[in-house]
Amino acid sequence: MEILLAFFLIVGISFGVAATNLSGLVSEYLFDQRKREDGLLAEKAAAAVAPFFEAASGEELGRILEENAQSMNGRLMLIDPDGKIQYDTFNRLCGRRTDIDEVVRVLTGEAAGAYGTHRPGRGVAEAMSGEENAENVAYCATEMTGGSGRIGVLLFVSRIQGMMDSLNTVRLQLITVFAVIALAALILALFLSQILTKPITDLSRTMRKMGKGDLTVRAPVRGSRELRELAENYNAMAAQLESMDKSRNQFVSNASHELRTPLTTMKIMLETVMYQPEMPQELREEFMGDMNHEIDRLTGIVNDLLTLTRMDNRSVEMHTEKVNMTALTEETVRLLTPAATQRKQHLSVNARKGLEMEGDRSKLGQILYNLIDNAMKYTADGGHISVLLTEEEDAIVWRVRDNGVGIPAGDLEHIFERFYRVDKARSRETGGTGLGLSIVRQLVTMHQGTISVKSELNQGSEFTVTFPRKGAAR
Ligand SMILES: Nc1ncnc2c1ncn2[C@@H]1O[C@H](COP(=O)(O)OP(=O)(O)OP(=O)(O)O)[C@@H](O)[C@H]1O
Ligand SMILES: [Mg+2]
Repeated sequence: MEILLAFFLIVGISFGVAATNLSGLVSEYLFDQRKREDGLLAEKAAAAVAPFFEAASGEELGRILEENAQSMNGRLMLIDPDGKIQYDTFNRLCGRRTDIDEVVRVLTGEAAGAYGTHRPGRGVAEAMSGEENAENVAYCATEMTGGSGRIGVLLFVSRIQGMMDSLNTVRLQLITVFAVIALAALILALFLSQILTKPITDLSRTMRKMGKGDLTVRAPVRGSRELRELAENYNAMAAQLESMDKSRNQFVSNASHELRTPLTTMKIMLETVMYQPEMPQELREEFMGDMNHEIDRLTGIVNDLLTLTRMDNRSVEMHTEKVNMTALTEETVRLLTPAATQRKQHLSVNARKGLEMEGDRSKLGQILYNLIDNAMKYTADGGHISVLLTEEEDAIVWRVRDNGVGIPAGDLEHIFERFYRVDKARSRETGGTGLGLSIVRQLVTMHQGTISVKSELNQGSEFTVTFPRKGAAR
């Protein structure tokens, strides 16, 4: 709107100034010319009648005056030094006194000649005739001189209506042109501002909609390069928001689902115990044990969820220190060895001596713990699991390999997603929620590392974690 106004003002004002100047020039030119012509005519007439006026030869004077008035196409009056009109070719004002400005100026000797234009209606003396009251006239007063100096004034009243009319026509034309141009400028300004501001209003409308919660709206990409870029960036942001919103909803519904399962199980067990008072002590204890196990599982899930949300909010702190990776690897394996032994699984470790890196000790430990935990979970009793810690080029590498069930190729790209499990039924049995690997991936990323997996169905899997030498310190 401001652009529009500015544009309109600039065009309007400049043209207004030009029009005023132009009409001023035209009128000046026309008047100057007329003034000179009238002045010359009046002087000639004055020179011609002066001797007769001085001699007071009435008849001769009247005739010459009449002739001159006719040839000059105007009205002539002769005024004596007292301001009294002695002759009037219209024969209407003879004998009256006049105080017309131009006459007075000549009579008082202020100038030898005076000129002025007059609008009609001030007095009888101004009119060319009774009927033509409405005419514009010009007064041209010239002094008449005789032997004894100034003897009177000759007043030449000429019609300037024609000139006024043409001047008015010019003015009218200029005003018309001005109006047309102003209108065109206004329309153009409106049109231009539409083109210029449309993308912006579109964008702000989109933003308003999105502000109200509709994340699917997108801004149309058009306009100048900057505006297109703005719309594109905005759309990219909107898409990001939409997908975040979707995954959050997904996450919440998955989480509630996962939490409901152990709760349902516990409720069934609890009710069984409650409504069977005569239940054998042994059976009762078994139920209690199962319930305890479910509670542990529930706690585990809730902990995992908390960890994930905290990592999402980037509110987890990194307690970076120099970590002895060799010791950490051996410790973690030792921690899990009893469980492996219970299932007759062979858990071996091969850690290169003296490897250190900057990182968060407990988070690094959790990465390895989760990977070994998975390897054991998804490997049959009596299987083999090997953990390797090495240094490759400028990186520290963990490899956790098993000869378990493996992962179908189609699932490989999904296993790091939250709640993703290859075999839903089976891993529920083993107690998995599908959060372990997504936590692992986040923790690895926090250490600027990468994780990859190779797997063959029924042959086994191998997870590889690679940390750049400097780890989190980088
Ligand atoms: N070593 C492996 N061998 C075969 N499949 C695996 C292995 N590791 C992970 N998977 C598959 O990837 C899925 C995701 O693993 P993840 O650790 O994220 O979840 P989980 O082990 O099922 O549950 P959680 O770790 O949260 O208790 C598993 O359900 C499993 O199907
Ligand atoms: Mg797991």
